[in-house]
Amino acid sequence: MQSKQPVWDIWVRLGHWSIVAGIVFQQISGENLDLMDAHATVGILLAGWVMFRLVWGFIGPHYARFSSFPIPTPQTALTSVQKLIRKETEHTPGHSAIGGLAVYVLIGLIGLTALTGMASSDDILFAGPLAPLLPGFLVNLASLTHPVFSKLVLITVLLHVLAVLWHTVLMKEPLIQGMITGLKPGFGAPVGTPHPFSTILVLRGFVAMTLCLGGTYAVLVLFLGW
Ligand code: HEM
Ligand code: HEM
Repeated sequence: MQSKQPVWDIWVRLGHWSIVAGIVFQQISGENLDLMDAHATVGILLAGWVMFRLVWGFIGPHYARFSSFPIPTPQTALTSVQKLIRKETEHTPGHSAIGGLAVYVLIGLIGLTALTGMASSDDILFAGPLAPLLPGFLVNLASLTHPVFSKLVLITVLLHVLAVLWHTVLMKEPLIQGMITGLKPGFGAPVGTPHPFSTILVLRGFVAMTLCLGGTYAVLVLFLGW
C-alpha cells in the first residue's frame, strides 16, 4: 500500500466541493425566472472562485501551482490518455497531463460562462451587472453564448467525473478520498513548500479567497450598483 502524503490544501478542497454545488445549482436555476437573482449571485461567486483558483495557481502549495502541472502539449496529453486507457497509474501525486489540461479547460469555461452571464440582458426583465457598460452587440453576443458555454461546462464536467470514476473504480486509485482528506499516494515525491497543511498556507488561502470572492461581489454588486 502506497503511503499517503498531503497534496490538496483546504482551499482547493473547499473550493472544489463548493463549485460542484454551485454548478449544480446554476444548471437548475438557469431556466427558472423565479431563481434568477440567486442564479446571478451564485454565478458571480463562481467568477470569484475562478479568480481565486488563478491566483492560487501561483501562490498556493506545490501541487496546486500551474508550474507543477505537466505542460499540456498534444503529445503529453495523448500519452496521458493512452496510459489512462491502459489503466497505467501515473506516478505523481499531482495532476497528470490530461488532468492538468482538464483543470485549465474547466476554469476557463466556468470563467467564460460567468462572464457572459454578467454581460447578458433580455432587454426586459434582466440585465447582468456588466451589460450597461458594454456596447449592444457584445451584450447580444454574451446573451447568445451564455447557454452555449453553460452546456460546454456540463459536457466537460461529465467527462471529468467519468475520468475520476475510471481512476477510482477500475484503477483503484483513491482520488475522491484525496479531494476530501487532502491526502494522496506520494510515490516518493516531495511534499513541496509551502506545506499544504501549514498554518501560513491556511491563512494565505483565507485572505486570497476572501479578497477574490468578496472583491468580485463588491465590485459588481456594490460599486456597479447592481
Ligand atoms: C458559472 C456560472 C454560471 C453557470 C454555470 C450558468 C448556467 C446557466 C444555465 C444552464 C442557464 C440556462 C441556459 C438555457 O436556457 O439553456 C443560464 C441562463 C441564464 N443565466 Fe447563467 N450561469 C452562470 C452565471 C450567470 C451569471 C453570473 C449571470 C448574471 C449575473 C447569469 C445570468 C443568466 C441569465 C439571465 C440566464 C437566462 C437567459 C439565458 O438563457 O441566457 N448566469 N445560466
Ligand atoms: C460541477 C462539477 C465539478 C466541477 C466543476 C469540478 C471541477 C474540478 C476542478 C477544477 C478540479 C481541479 C482541482 C484544483 O486543482 O483546484 C477538480 C479535481 C477533482 N475533482 Fe472535480 N469537479 C466536479 C465534480 C466532481 C465530482 C462529482 C467528483 C467526484 C466524483 C470530482 C472529483 C474530483 C477529484 C477526485 C479531483 C482531483 C483529481 C486529482 O487528484 O488529480 N469532481 N475538479
